[in-house]
Amino acid sequence: MSKVTVVGAGNVGATAANVLAIKEVASEVCLIDIKEGLAEGKAMDIMQTAQLIGFDTVVKGVTNDYSQTKNSDVVVITSGIPRKPGMSREDLISVNAGIVKSVASNILKYSPKAIIVVVSNPMDAMAYLALKSLGLPRNRVIGMGGALDSSRFKYYLSQALKCNQNEVEGMVIGGHGDTTMIPLARFATYKGVPAKTLLGSKKLDEVVKATMVGGATMTGLLGTSAWMAPGAAIAFLVESIIKDQKKMIPCSTYLNGEYGMKDITIGVPVIIGKKGIEKVVALRLNKEEKEALAASEAAVRKTAAILHDMKLI
Ligand code: NAI
Ligand code: 2OP
Repeated sequence: MSKVTVVGAGNVGATAANVLAIKEVASEVCLIDIKEGLAEGKAMDIMQTAQLIGFDTVVKGVTNDYSQTKNSDVVVITSGIPRKPGMSREDLISVNAGIVKSVASNILKYSPKAIIVVVSNPMDAMAYLALKSLGLPRNRVIGMGGALDSSRFKYYLSQALKCNQNEVEGMVIGGHGDTTMIPLARFATYKGVPAKTLLGSKKLDEVVKATMVGGATMTGLLGTSAWMAPGAAIAFLVESIIKDQKKMIPCSTYLNGEYGMKDITIGVPVIIGKKGIEKVVALRLNKEEKEALAASEAAVRKTAAILHDMKLI
């Protein structure tokens, strides 16, 4: 028996609940929102697909009743406002920080042992806020951004290479922001062959640039931020926790000296298993990559500093 709670039954939260159910990642998924009836409605809609698709996961929706989230193994926080065209993820902090802080403390009352996955933007700062305000060890607070950004990187790589997405590898580290994320071009491969040798530097650079603005491209097309790939990326991460798969996934992680950084939550590759973040993987970055990570660090710290100004931590 395993239970996952998803806070926020909007586009991203409901999609995550749907993928978690279809893939039977957990036996129970609890969807919770403040908007009266929304989570109940989304949960019922998902449950009415169970016999069509053939899954046994039970999805339940509740309005603001945290007692129903009791004893969750994993809690995903998607509550908060999404960005509109022209907005950055950082623009959302004044509204989302208060929401994330209060949600995180409600969750812990009923699921004191849960692993917490933070999705609300600006995600690196929100993961830092959850970790600091709850006083949890770093393995238990995971920021989801790198899984999504890496999947966008692999999508754009496969488009450029005209190949099957499942045969390319690519990883994005750094902050989850249009200018702060770092698609690691040097590590990108197609069936083990470096993408650079197949695409050349110019084409690979175009793939990197498209990846970095991948979220903004979706926001421009949809009028709000994306939800299909974000929901699937959440389910991918949660599955590695629930099934103890030990997958290497870039996640926003509290660093304590790794990569030369301390007291910051930023995207680096980690091993994800039953205990959450089980290991930080140390990559040997070259000079250019180190410089990009240093610039990303500065930007992520600047956003996180707003939390101090807001007196939230
Ligand atoms: P949405 O507006 O569709 O859904 C947000 C939901 O949160 C709404 O249903 C709202 O009623 C609910 N909510 C607000 N305050 C709440 C509270 N105190 N308790 C419970 N529920 C509450 O937005 P969407 O598209 O689902 O995005 C959610 C968040 O996820 C945004 O901040 C967005 O920027 C972020 N996001 C992050 C990604 C990542 O990779 N980290 C990817 C995509 C979105
Ligand atoms: C995304 O990358 C906005 O974080 C959101 O789609």
